[in-house]
Amino acid sequence: MAKSVVAGLDRILTMELVRVTERAAVAAARLRGRGDEKAADQVAVDAMRQELNNLAIKGTVVIGEGERDEAPMLYIGEEVGAGGPEVDIALDPLEGTTICAKNLPNALAVIAIAEKGSLLFAPDVYMDKIAVGPGYPEGVIDLDASPAENIASVAKAKGVPVNEVTACILDRPRHAKLIEAVRATGAAIRLIGDGDVAGVIHTTNPEETGIDIYLGTGGAPEGVLAAAALRCTGGQILGRLLLDSPDKVARAATMGITDPKKVYRTDEMARGDVLFAATGVTDGNMLAGVKFGRDSITTHTIVLRSSSKTVREIKARHQDLEKF
Ligand code: FBP
Repeated sequence: MAKSVVAGLDRILTMELVRVTERAAVAAARLRGRGDEKAADQVAVDAMRQELNNLAIKGTVVIGEGERDEAPMLYIGEEVGAGGPEVDIALDPLEGTTICAKNLPNALAVIAIAEKGSLLFAPDVYMDKIAVGPGYPEGVIDLDASPAENIASVAKAKGVPVNEVTACILDRPRHAKLIEAVRATGAAIRLIGDGDVAGVIHTTNPEETGIDIYLGTGGAPEGVLAAAALRCTGGQILGRLLLDSPDKVARAATMGITDPKKVYRTDEMARGDVLFAATGVTDGNMLAGVKFGRDSITTHTIVLRSSSKTVREIKARHQDLEKF
């Protein structure tokens, strides 16, 4: 494969991306536990946009804060960066706005960058998702199989009884049947209030997070972000857009989606060379939240590259507080 523009740049960009999610996370963290989702999201968006505009890229936001008419900043199609190679950007300056507002675990600032045309241009609809971490054979999960079949398949591949499998599911009334079906298998469930990007990423390190499989319906943009992370760590995610009205089908068609029932694989949501970074806003299973000290701010970031599969964890102590 020809060396891509991103591959040529990614060693530098990897570190630059850390600054982008750090800035957004610190901004949001100042509003942790204040019960104001909108305000926390807004400061994270402002901070991320400001830092993104320092990067030497010509970036187009393909997964962002919403359509242009509903999001004044970091909207889908917005161009960001100081100029350079053309890249696609998927971002969520505050993934888990409610988690942050309530100061609960696993709120993140997240970004993924890939070569132009490599990230699925997904509308802001729901996506039916299933995901596992690395080390499983291709096809171990199937979006059209029953929860029991998927849990049994993962247990078999892992070499453990079904009751040693833990599934992560968003705690929503729409998941009542799914939860019942998973519990009937004997598997355990970690119910999360929000934040399914973190939920999917948690499958990549079951020893630390205790989660083997992610199941259920969440945001499609979050599905693309999670796919970008899995491209870098290994693992599999399958997703199908829930286009349950003619209006949504039409909107998806304007984004180039001609088959509304298509099941997207990991590499169909995030192709080619991908970089991914996430900084913890609140404490979580994988990342610590931002800590405000007397003279410094500490952040914890994970930054991933698909081309090398390097997983870097960066704990930074920031002392130049004027920047934040
Ligand atoms: P926000 O950060 O936009 O609030 O999203 C949080 C989230 O939990 C996502 O992680 C998830 O994909 C989506 O919301 C689920 O949507 P809903 O809350 O409508 O079930």
